[in-house]
Amino acid sequence: MLPRPEKIIFTDGFASQNAPVEERLCPELSREEYRIDITADRIVLTGSGDAGLFYARTTLEQLRMIYKEMLPCMKITDRPAYPFRSFHIDCARHYFSVDELKKMIRMSAEFKLNYFHWHISDDQGWRIESLRYPKLHEVSSVRGGDHFGNYHSDQTEGGYYSRAEVKEIIEYCGRFGIEIVPEIDMPGHVTAILAAYPELSCLGEPVEVGMRAGIFKELFCAGKEETFTFIFELLEELLELFPGQYFHIGGDEAPKERWRACPHCQKRMREEGLKNEQELQGYFCNRIASYLLSKGRIPIVWNEAVYGGNLDKETVVQLWTEDKDAQIKAHLDRGGRAVLSMVDQCYCDYPYSMHSLKDVYEIETSPAELGERGEDSVLGTECLIWTEFIRDNERLEEMCWPRFAASAEVGWCGSNRPGYVDFCRRLEVLFPLFEKYGIHATGKDGWIPDEETAAEQTEAFQRNFSKEDLEEARRMQEEI
Ligand code: ACM
Ligand code: ZN
Repeated sequence: MLPRPEKIIFTDGFASQNAPVEERLCPELSREEYRIDITADRIVLTGSGDAGLFYARTTLEQLRMIYKEMLPCMKITDRPAYPFRSFHIDCARHYFSVDELKKMIRMSAEFKLNYFHWHISDDQGWRIESLRYPKLHEVSSVRGGDHFGNYHSDQTEGGYYSRAEVKEIIEYCGRFGIEIVPEIDMPGHVTAILAAYPELSCLGEPVEVGMRAGIFKELFCAGKEETFTFIFELLEELLELFPGQYFHIGGDEAPKERWRACPHCQKRMREEGLKNEQELQGYFCNRIASYLLSKGRIPIVWNEAVYGGNLDKETVVQLWTEDKDAQIKAHLDRGGRAVLSMVDQCYCDYPYSMHSLKDVYEIETSPAELGERGEDSVLGTECLIWTEFIRDNERLEEMCWPRFAASAEVGWCGSNRPGYVDFCRRLEVLFPLFEKYGIHATGKDGWIPDEETAAEQTEAFQRNFSKEDLEEARRMQEEI
């Protein structure tokens, strides 16, 4: 079974595949906990509600696939190590259809992932219909072409999800106990939004929706009050659309060049007693975060947002880089919580040669930067796919699967996971699940590619980046 249940006790005898299945509610179990009791004449599934019963049914479905004929009698007791087990899909760099997202969601549910971090705004596109700010879907959702690294196309690229489609996806996720965490990345990665509403940047000058990869200079101006009015009104609309508990407000890769030169931002820093632009980013995030908290939501940010040292502890920090450990530690020591999604293990846009299935599986769940509360400050884990260089469904699927399944076992089993070899053995048995859900997963040979294939994959990946892009990225990194 995958993820491996916490406890399995085999008892005597066998049940037929057609044995009657009885579902029982037991309020004493925690929300996602479940039990399965297989005896010779029936199968009893127990949970405290929909989530637990769905997981019990999922595990039973896997048992049926594993044993094919008679099911051995057994008692399973199971519950997750972490409450937040997430998968991320970047739909801003490339748009993926509702049907494709449903396939990815259904497959993720099979491995008990329970949050879909939906990246719907970035420099290269905004992807949601907005009634309050219609230029977002009219202007920000379309770019004039793709010039990502060494790839060039002058064909317009774009697309957005209508409000009805968003509701359809939310409803679909809900059937499988998955909640959506929408992400509107800010104050950086907002070039697409600024293409429609340029007055929200420091310079206020027109920009185009991004057509290249990398880090962009233009940020939301943190000095102008209109910026906050825009964000709060936009969030008000999005919170009505997205009912989930968490909301991601980005905060990564925001070079401070514009803020340093902006009279509005500098005035804000003086008035608020902020020592530098990092603290200004903390102030910016805290204002958005307190708006979300006042509406009963929990904000999440990427780890750069803690670098000012003034981020409120209620904001969850998603760890992806390994620098500035001290500020991350301080945030977590103050009581903050973290989602683990380190770039070297959890980013599935890198080829298997660089981030193998084993690397994903073996992520450290108490890394050094977690501070004195260690694993207690971990809210959960996330596997991610960024799509600058992923343009079709098949590629998306083979990059994510089975790596997302490995991450799902990390989130479910935590530090008690049985080990990579054991995981692979179970994965091989359950591999037909990918076919069942129409997913084009990478086969066994590709999980840790041989030397020759690995060299080809790494070289092909590096060809994505032009020399100029790499130089620009290095320069921008210094500004963050
Ligand atoms: C990120 O990968 N920029 C969070
Ligand atoms: Zn400014």
